[in-house]
Amino acid sequence: MDQLKVFDTTLRDGEQSPGASMTREEKLRIARQLERLRVDVIEAGFPAASNGDFAAVHAVAEAIKECTVAALCRTQDKDIARALEAIKPARSGRIHTFIATSPIHMEKKLRMAPADVIVAATNAVRFARNGIGEVEFSCEDAGRSEIDFLCRIVEAVIKEGASVINIPDTVGYNLPEQFAERILQLRTRIPNADKVTWSVHCHNDLGLAVANSLAAVLAGARQVECTINGLGERAGNAALEELVMAVRTRQDVFACDTRIDTTQILSASKLVSGITGFPVQPNKAIVGANAFAHESGIHQDGVLKHRETYEIMRAEDVGWNANKLVLGKHSGRTAFKARLNELGIAVDSEQILNSAFTRFKELADKKHDIYDEDLQALMSEEELTLDHEHYRLLSSRFHSETGETPHADITLAVGAVEHHASADGSGPVDAAFKAIESVANSAADLLLFSVNSITTGTDAQGEVTVRLSKDGRIVNGQGADTDIIVASAKAYLNALNKLESTQDRVNPQV
Ligand code: KIV
Ligand code: ZN
Repeated sequence: MDQLKVFDTTLRDGEQSPGASMTREEKLRIARQLERLRVDVIEAGFPAASNGDFAAVHAVAEAIKECTVAALCRTQDKDIARALEAIKPARSGRIHTFIATSPIHMEKKLRMAPADVIVAATNAVRFARNGIGEVEFSCEDAGRSEIDFLCRIVEAVIKEGASVINIPDTVGYNLPEQFAERILQLRTRIPNADKVTWSVHCHNDLGLAVANSLAAVLAGARQVECTINGLGERAGNAALEELVMAVRTRQDVFACDTRIDTTQILSASKLVSGITGFPVQPNKAIVGANAFAHESGIHQDGVLKHRETYEIMRAEDVGWNANKLVLGKHSGRTAFKARLNELGIAVDSEQILNSAFTRFKELADKKHDIYDEDLQALMSEEELTLDHEHYRLLSSRFHSETGETPHADITLAVGAVEHHASADGSGPVDAAFKAIESVANSAADLLLFSVNSITTGTDAQGEVTVRLSKDGRIVNGQGADTDIIVASAKAYLNALNKLESTQDRVNPQV
C-alpha cells in the first residue's frame, strides 16, 4: 500500500483568500493543529512576500517537529535565499519553487520565451538544491500548459535534483478525466519520471478541485496539495477533509492511504474557520454542521435500525461528538492543566496558566459544563491577550428592549488609561461597536461580523469574528463569551489591537 502524502497549504494558499490574512501566532496555532492532524508537509508561507511572512515561516519551522515545513518562492535567487533562511530551523525543510508554464502566462505575464522559462526553472532548482536536500518544483497553470513543454521542463528540473513535481490546475479549468490523463501522460512520457513524487494542486473554480485531485491520485499522483475547509484564492483549493475521507472511505478503489489522524479534522476546521472568519457552510461535506444530521423520518428510522443504511462514515471518526464533558466548577488547577496537555496545548509559563485558570473559573461560574472546545477557545483568547493588548474591555452594560433604542455603556482600558463611553445603535452589537469607536477613533471599515456557537445548548459560548480594514491592512479579531454582545465587543477590541500591533503581516493582496 502506497502512502499518499498530504501537503497542507492553508497557511500559504489559504491565506491568499481576501481577508484571511493571519498573524504569526495564528499561523503557529494552526501549524500545531496540522501537526496533530499528522499532515506530511505544512507550507507555512511565502517568505519573500513580507517580513511578517518571513517571521511566521521561521516560527513555524522552529516549532514543528513531526511534519516537513515548506516555503514557497519564485525562481529568483533572492526569493529562494530568503525561503532557505526562513526554514533553516526546520527539522525537515523543503523549498517549493514555481514558475508559470502555460502559453498565456509565459507570454502575457512573465513576458518570457519558453526556452528562458526552462533556464529559470533549472537554475532555480540547482540553486535551491545547493542549500537543501528537498526541492519541489511547480509548473504554475500546468492545467493549461502544452503537454510537450511540460515534459521538457519537468525532465530538466528532475535532472537538477527536484524530488517532487507538482502539477497545479491553477485556474481550476480541468475536468477529472482530462486531468488524470495529463498526469498519466507526464508519468509515462518523461524518462526520469520514476525518480520523483508526483503531486497535484487543484483550485476549485468549477467546483472540481477534489474530484480532479482524486482522479490524479488514481493516475499515480502520491501527494495532494490542499487546505482545511478548502480555503484559498477565489473559489479555494481542494479541501483536505474531503480528500482524506474519500481515500479512507473508498479503500476498495484507492491503492494508497494517508497517515492523517482523522479525529483531528473537526478541530482543525473549527480553528481555521475561527481564525480566518470564514464560516463553514452547514451542508459542507465532513465538517458542516449538518454533514451527519439525519432530518427525514425515513433516514432516521434507517440509521437507528442499522447505521450503514444512510451513513458511509462515522461522525466520531472525523471528530464529531467528541466534545466530552471534561471539567466543571469544582475542577482544580491540576485537572485543568492535565486536560490542556491531553489537548496538545502546552502551557510553559506559570503566569499564563494562572491567568487561564482564572478565566476558566469565571467561565465555569457562567456555564455549568466545560467542553474541550470551550478550553480551546479560552486558550486562544489567552494567546490573543498576550499578543498585544492596547485596548481591553473592563466592563459593559447593554440595554435592549422592545420599542426602545438599544444602548451600550462600555468601560475600556486604553494602555494604562480608563475610558467610559456610551452609544445608541440599531442593535446592542451596533451600539457596543459605536461606543468603542467613540474612544478608539480607528475609522476602520468593518468587513465582516460573524457569530458561531462553540458547543451546543443555549448556555454555549458564542465565538465572534470581526474583520476590519484600514489603510490596506485587513485583520480578523476574535472574542468568545456566553454573552454574545460581550463576545462581539471583545472581538472588535481584538481586531483593533491587531491594527495597533506592528507585528502583524500585511495582507498578501495589498
Ligand atoms: O495555484 C498555483 O499554481 C499555486 C502554485 C504557486 C503552486 O499556488
Ligand atoms: Zn494555488
